Parts: sequence; structure tokens; C-alpha cells
Amino acid sequence: MCGIVGYIGNKKASSILIQGLQRLEYRGYDSAGIATIEKNSIKIMKDKGRVNNLYNLEGIDNLEGTIGIAHTRWATHGKPSKDNAHPHYDNDNMFAVVHNGIIENYNELRSELIEKGYHFVSQTDTEVIPNLINYYYKQDKTKDDNKVLKAVKNACMDLIGSFAIEVISSESPENMIVVRKDSPLVIGKGYKENYIASDIPAILSYTKDFYFLNDYEFALLSRDKIKFYDTNLVEIDKPTKSIEWDSKGAEKDGYEHFMLKEIYEQPIAIRETIGTRLSNGKVIFDELDFSKEYLQSLNKIFIVACGTAMHAGIVSKTIFERLCKIPVEVEIASEFRYRDPLIDEKTLAIYISQSGETADTIAALKLAKSKGAKTLAISNVIGSSITREADYSIYTHAGPEIAVASTKAYTSQITLLTLLAIYCSEKLERADSDKITKLKEDLLEAPSKVEEVLKNTSQIKKFAKKVHKEKDMFFLGRGIDYAVSLEGSLKLKEISYIHSEGYASGELKHGPIALIDTGVTVISIMTDPKLVEKSISNVQEVITRGAKVLIVTNQDLENKGFELVIKIPEISTEISPLLSIVPLQLFAYYISKEKGLDVDKPRNLAKSVTVE
Ligand code: M6R
Repeated sequence: MCGIVGYIGNKKASSILIQGLQRLEYRGYDSAGIATIEKNSIKIMKDKGRVNNLYNLEGIDNLEGTIGIAHTRWATHGKPSKDNAHPHYDNDNMFAVVHNGIIENYNELRSELIEKGYHFVSQTDTEVIPNLINYYYKQDKTKDDNKVLKAVKNACMDLIGSFAIEVISSESPENMIVVRKDSPLVIGKGYKENYIASDIPAILSYTKDFYFLNDYEFALLSRDKIKFYDTNLVEIDKPTKSIEWDSKGAEKDGYEHFMLKEIYEQPIAIRETIGTRLSNGKVIFDELDFSKEYLQSLNKIFIVACGTAMHAGIVSKTIFERLCKIPVEVEIASEFRYRDPLIDEKTLAIYISQSGETADTIAALKLAKSKGAKTLAISNVIGSSITREADYSIYTHAGPEIAVASTKAYTSQITLLTLLAIYCSEKLERADSDKITKLKEDLLEAPSKVEEVLKNTSQIKKFAKKVHKEKDMFFLGRGIDYAVSLEGSLKLKEISYIHSEGYASGELKHGPIALIDTGVTVISIMTDPKLVEKSISNVQEVITRGAKVLIVTNQDLENKGFELVIKIPEISTEISPLLSIVPLQLFAYYISKEKGLDVDKPRNLAKSVTVE
């Protein structure tokens, strides 16, 4: 999705802005642009295509301004083009605006502005914003110091939809104004300079102190001050939060791709997520105050998320139900929010989001909250929107995840959900204590077992090379391995553009086996000792029909005549996904690399999906 960067200080803004945009490239985009204030007037430079193209624009080197805004656009309204790229001017070139999100009533606003004599040069929804600001600015006959802020506020109150907006103005050339509603934006505080970005990694090398805006809070920035206002333009106080992330986390650090680096960072991400939550045999969540009575009162847990985060939810359903004996439903956020689910105060609703900015997940959380359920957010990003909406928030400690294809966030989410299930179960006293002790031991051993898996990559690389030209693949599993098969399949689709399906092994015979033919590639995950024999039978069925099979297992299946068996260490079935997903992530990675694709920024995808 679109990315925003802003700078106000004493340094040349253009280079800081372009570097910031490069750090946001992973979010996905098709055009880019910047605007700076040059001797009290605004200069916009933008183009279709990569951020790097900005360096070739004539005059870009002559920009001297120290205040500026920048944007990478992921086209929604209007095709990717220079005219549709942000920033956008108003008709008098007094205001420049960049915007993330969607203005749902832009057609009405556009018609009203056209009636008032305004014209438009782009097809975007965004262009109504600078013109609305222009309109309100001209209507205001006062000489108020905050006249631009007032105009921005009035314009924003007319907008329906989602937005994170940066505004600079020739009428107030020493300031910048930002505001957000349902779209991410952070403010980084520096010394006599301040930064804006859609997400933290873009400006992490400049500051670790951040402000997080709530919906409809306005920030008026100057070089050495930031003032915050509510919708009545009454000044409000906001604390800064310090982010512990190391800026190195947002660099490739010698790896060819962020995805590979993040796959290899999983042992540390799991360790960090366990952190001090599990020590001396005790699981502690200081952020939670769930009493035994409250947990006993629950008749349902919803786990709601999108994509990989939802797959982490599917994995954890098993452990929650086994340990807590509470029914768990895992739902896709975009479905949940519109299907009128049965929710009341006896429901605990858990939302998982790496970015904490996924529009559907946030909307699904608001729904459950409005129906009286307690809401708990699991995110990787401190201060992200979802954590500000939820009753409770707990964090994974995966560090910045830059590659679009999520890897370390997934394993960290499973780790945290496992700890959460143990925490609830110990309060409820509903599970066998030996079982819980074993899970805790295994969780602590998981990082070093993932390290072992990561040492054994040559076979996967070879198999990826062999099958990289295939058009279709199947990932099969039973029980918790089925949950992993869904994630393995998503990884492959996302970065290799090979069609694949994750399927429950036992369901194969009910239809999809018709697609198995000579040469079709099948990846089978078998980690649950109770289900291995059944999975082997399913694999035999596809081998008989000519499939090439890769098996990922913790059982002794080598030398049993299968084409390729990747052996992973043994661990409790409930947390085996922490290990079994790793070969599948690497498989997708090596195929994508073999095909020469853009591993970290796959086509059409965005890291954070901040619109519905
Ligand atoms: O930031 P979130 O965890 O809310 O993102 C959810 C999905 O958009 C995300 O997991 C997506 O499926 C990834 N590209 C998967 O690799």
C-alpha cells in the first residue's frame, strides 16, 4: 500500500525523503513523488515507476528546501501515471498533499468543488483534499495564525473513508500538518528536526522516539516543536514512546534478500518473543488481568486475522482447545466483519496483525468491542493502530519485518499464542500439568531446533531448482500439519507466482485428487505421530498417480522409497509448526530466486493492507 515520508528540519529534505521512500518500497507501489518548500513556494517532483527514478528528474538536485513530504503510491483510483502520483497541489499551488487510504465520498466532493469552480488534473480521490483545504482557507477571512490548520481540519471533517495525510503550504512555509484516520502514520521526534513515516523502519535510523496519533488528531510540526490538536483544535498532550528496534533490523545485513534474512532470524525472534514471559517454569503476562472467573465465563474464543497471521491463528486453535477446553473459531477478518458473528461478553476476541495496521482486522476488532467482547491484539509493532483500539495488547518481538512475505512474524505469533494458551490454561486449571510442563520445555528448545533446520538447506535448494517451472503444487497435511500446509502454500503463491493449494490430506480423495497427474509436485507435512500412517497412505495415493513428493517430517521416513524426505527435529505436535514451516519458507524462497523474481516485493502485493 502507499507509503508516506515527511521531514522538517535544517537538512536538505529531498535526500532524506527519497531515502525514506526507498525504505518503504517493500510496502508495494507504482509511482513516487516528493514536494519541498523552496523559498516559500512549493515544488513538486514525481513520476511513475520506481523511487530511484526520482533521482533522474531534472532539477531534483537543485531542491534546497528543508521541509518536505513524500509518497509512494499503490494505485487505487486512477492508473499508475505521473499525474496520478502524489503529492497533489490545489488549484493555486498553495498546498501540497500526500495521502494514504481511500476517500469514499470523493466523487461527491469533486462535483461540489467543480461547481465552485475548481478543476482536477488527476483521477485520484486524493486531489479533492488540497482543493478542499484551499476552499476552506479562502473562506476564512481572519488573520488567525492557525488558519492553515483550521482549513486542513475543516477539509478532513468532510472526508469519509480512511486517510493519513501530510500537508505543506506556501501560506505557512515553516510548518507541516499531519492527521490520520484508520491509516497508519507515525511521527519521529528528533533534535530540532522531526520526521513522519507510514511505519517505523523508514525513519528508525534517525530516531527511536515516536508519537502515535489517534484518529482525527492533528499534529502541527515545526522544526523544534510538535503541537497536537483534537477536532475542536484544542491542544492536547501526547507522550512519546521509545522503540527498542535496532535500525540494523531494517537493513539486509549481508543477506541477498530481506526474506532470507528474516527466515534466518527466526530463532532469535522466537527467543525474544518468549523473552521473560517464560522463566522459572512460569508464564507471565503483566499486560493481562484475566481472572480464573473471567476465563471460566467464556463460551467462545474468536481468533481473527488476515493472511499469514490468520494461519498462525489456525495453528493455535488446537493448542487453545486442548489446553483451555474452550471452543475456538478462527476467522478471516474481511469475512468476520460483515457476517454478523455471534459475539457477547462471554466471547474473548483475539486479533493478530504483524503490522497492526490491517484495515479489515482493525474493523473486525471494533465490531467485537462494540458487542461487549473483550478484545486482545497481538502485534509486532508497538503503538500500531490495532493496539490502540484493543482492550489488551501483547507484542511479538520479531523486530522489523520488511519482506512482503511474512516469515518471522508467523513463527513469533505462534510462539506468543502458545504462551497465551498456557497462561489461560494455568489459570483455568483445565489441562494436564505434565503436558504443560512438556510444552514449556519444548518451547524453550524451539529456537535451537529451528537453527538445526536452517543448517540443512541443500536438499530443499536442489528440489526447488528441479520443480521451479511447475504451474501447480499441492501442500498436504493432517491436523496441525494441515494448518502449516496453508501457510506453505501461501508463501509459494506470493513470491513464486506458482498456483498452489494447501489441502487437508484426508480431503484429497473428495475432489482434488482428480488434478494429480504425472509430474505434479506434492509437499506433504507429517509431524503428528498419531497421524503419520494416515498421511503416508495419502502420499502413496498421489505417488501412484505420478506425483513428485517432498515430505517434511520428524519421523524416520528416510529410506522408505520417497523421493525426498526433509527430516526436522522432534518436538511436541502443538508447536511443531515452528519447525515444519521453515523448509517450506525456504522452498518458496529458492523457487522465487531460481525464477529470478523480486522476492521481497512480489507483484501486486503490499506489506500492510491498510484499505479493505
Ligand atoms: O500485518 P498483518 O499481519 O495484519 O498482515 C496480514 C496479511 O496481509 C499478511 O500476513 C499477508 O498475508 C502476508 N503477505 C503473508 O506473507
